[in-house]
Amino acid sequence: MNPERKEFKLEGSELVLINLESQDRIVANQGGTSSGKTWSVLQTIILKALREKLHISVCSVSLPHLKKGALLDFTNLLTKYELYDEKFYNKTDNIIRIGKSRIEFFSLDDPGKARGPRRDILFVNECNLVPYETFNQLMLRTRKQVFIDYNPVDENHWIYEKILTRDDCTFIKSTYKDNLFLDRKIAQEIERLKDTDENLWKIYGLGERGQLKSTVYSPWEIVDELPEDGDIFYGLDFGYNVPAALVKCCLKDGNQLYVDELIYQSYLTNSELILLMRDIITPHASIYADAAEPQRIAEIRKAGFNCRAADKSVKDGIDKLKRMKVHLTRRSTNILKERQGYKWKEDASGNLIDEPVKFNDHALDAMRYAVHTHGLRPNGKYAMR
Ligand SMILES: Nc1ncnc2c1ncn2[C@@H]1O[C@H](COP(=O)(O)OP(=O)(O)O)[C@@H](O)[C@H]1O
Ligand SMILES: [Mg+2]
Repeated sequence: MNPERKEFKLEGSELVLINLESQDRIVANQGGTSSGKTWSVLQTIILKALREKLHISVCSVSLPHLKKGALLDFTNLLTKYELYDEKFYNKTDNIIRIGKSRIEFFSLDDPGKARGPRRDILFVNECNLVPYETFNQLMLRTRKQVFIDYNPVDENHWIYEKILTRDDCTFIKSTYKDNLFLDRKIAQEIERLKDTDENLWKIYGLGERGQLKSTVYSPWEIVDELPEDGDIFYGLDFGYNVPAALVKCCLKDGNQLYVDELIYQSYLTNSELILLMRDIITPHASIYADAAEPQRIAEIRKAGFNCRAADKSVKDGIDKLKRMKVHLTRRSTNILKERQGYKWKEDASGNLIDEPVKFNDHALDAMRYAVHTHGLRPNGKYAMR
């Protein structure tokens, strides 16, 4: 954030140019997963902020979502362009200054925040997770331009009717193929959907409005915190190129399940994972982990955790989880996203098959391992809870 620095070479895709050149009131970035939506809007914001004095707000559904997402990407971008300077970063209020501009990052979990002071430019990241009323309040308090980005997960979302129909809206659609910087492994993971599920391929691959009529889990209730009492245990799904997911479960009254997302992160080695787990796991509580990686489980046990292989029966696990009344903490944003896109497979004629599509299911698998295995008696029968 060196305010003296006015020029730098920006390596971006065409998406940046289209965002930058739009003169419309709203610029809607719809796209598949990892298409470079968020990066290009943030790059656009940096360029605009250097050109003139602006007050810019970057918002998303919750503070963890913001910190793990847009805010982290933004500081990474500033570092990359040698614009980063601690002096101009107020970490208490999440305000960053570049050039003469001021960029504030805030979350929308408290609807009151949408009624704060005005701004010139607004960016709502993953706008599909934000209620229309909140978005509208923000938009009413924005003088110049509004940028949004989203995956077209929900067929009946307000974005289609209220935003895309406006004549002052630039619509930009992108897919992973527009992202020249994408890790090949992630591109392959996305392309696998072509053969597994047409509809998910349409949404996450092609960035087209989908129909998620057959999600495995119905929406869960959102809570602020886990209860103080209850039976505590954990679920763990390993990953490297895809995120490792650790979830905390608290079971009360037999079927009231409270779930909190603790770790959701790619490129973690097992030792890094163990380090992260040190401070957050209740001592001695059971951790049920992906049985496909006994070596990693053994290492975690050696580090002093009560970690064991989970029962991986998919159908039984899903049935068990579906019988629970699930309450999800507000900060569990990755679980929330996974739930929205997790669906049953369809056969060639569109009939549902009793098997979920294996895609974006890391935290959901961790939940399933935990709940299913914790509920099994030693003889393999369900405990009567
Ligand atoms: N201009 C760029 N330069 C380098 N890497 C990029 C660029 N744009 C995107 N990426 C990489 O691609 C990833 C996905 O881009 P992102 O904007 O987060 O996708 P989306 O928001 O569409 O899901 C980023 O995390 C980053 O690693
Ligand atoms: Mg994004």
